Amino acid sequence: MSNVKTIEWKDDTLVLIDCTKLPVEEKYIECKEYSTLCKAIKVLSVRGAPAIGVSAAYGVVLAAIQAQKETSTKEEYFKFINNAIKELSSTRPTAVNLFWALDRMKKKLDTLNELEKDIIKDKLLEEANKIYKEDIECNMAIGKHGNDVVLENASILTHCNAGALATAGYGTALSVIRYAHSSGKNIKVYADETRPLLQGSRLTAWELVKEGIPTTLITDNMAGYAMKLGKIDMVIFGADRITLNGDVANKIGSYSVAVLAKEHGIPVYAAAPLSTIDISLTDGDEIPIEERNKNEVRQLFGVQTAPNDVDTFNPAFDVTPHKYITGIITEVGILRPPYNLSIPKAFKIKEEIMKDKE
Ligand code: MRU
Repeated sequence: MSNVKTIEWKDDTLVLIDCTKLPVEEKYIECKEYSTLCKAIKVLSVRGAPAIGVSAAYGVVLAAIQAQKETSTKEEYFKFINNAIKELSSTRPTAVNLFWALDRMKKKLDTLNELEKDIIKDKLLEEANKIYKEDIECNMAIGKHGNDVVLENASILTHCNAGALATAGYGTALSVIRYAHSSGKNIKVYADETRPLLQGSRLTAWELVKEGIPTTLITDNMAGYAMKLGKIDMVIFGADRITLNGDVANKIGSYSVAVLAKEHGIPVYAAAPLSTIDISLTDGDEIPIEERNKNEVRQLFGVQTAPNDVDTFNPAFDVTPHKYITGIITEVGILRPPYNLSIPKAFKIKEEIMKDKE
């Protein structure tokens, strides 16, 4: 089980572990204003699709608290919050969980027009808490379902960080790993370092070593050779956005890993909650891919590793076509191809589950 606290709501403050400081320091950022959160998302202090979505939901609550202090009329109050929602949604373009969570908060807000400001804030907080709790529940279910495809003694390659640090808790890909490990399977993990920002070495290795899960760190360019040597039995990574046909956007390098895995006959699973599936998009070409600062490639955390004037290409994500994806591990089970049939079916199952819960 994970003992990492990535996101916490405490005394009208959103407290986030600062992923940019790990693994050297365990520091926390206190967001009292939504603009502090916007900055934290942009610089990747909070990152990972579900964590971005959950924290943005709390960002709307921060905006409501600020609006209560900084505006007088009801019209100004709602304008302030709606403007905050717009700003939050412009922080990063690829992970759909951000838009999914903000859309849910906006829909909630639109039902609260007639209420007192204090009550509105309480209702928004209730909704954000629900999003937080549901994320943890989804991740635990992902771990349980995913365990079905993890063999005894499996050696699992993962890319980037799809762990507790990328979600409200437990993680997606790492939830499967956590579940398999705690159920007594003798598994081990190969963690890709994940250039340029090293989420694999800084975050995944940190989470797994902390929990005593056997982990071997490799640089990204070692994955193919490790597969050739028979060191990898399966690949599990997370997702930032999945389209209706099962194409998967995830951290840059995931596509290369998936192509290599196919060549070596190794299954590739994407682990993600249904909130990461964007059924409004038919295929991966429609996913907006974030391009980040060129210096992230020229430098390694401020240390120059290339000539200043060399041009670079720095997409933060790539898209793995669905033909490379063996299955998508979700909270309602493992989806199999053809995804344009299994994905809508999964949404129907989820709808039924949610109805039963009400
Ligand atoms: O740029 P990041 O660190 O936000 O990228 C994160 C990833 O690509 C993760 O694999 C993905 O969001 C899934 S997290 C459960």
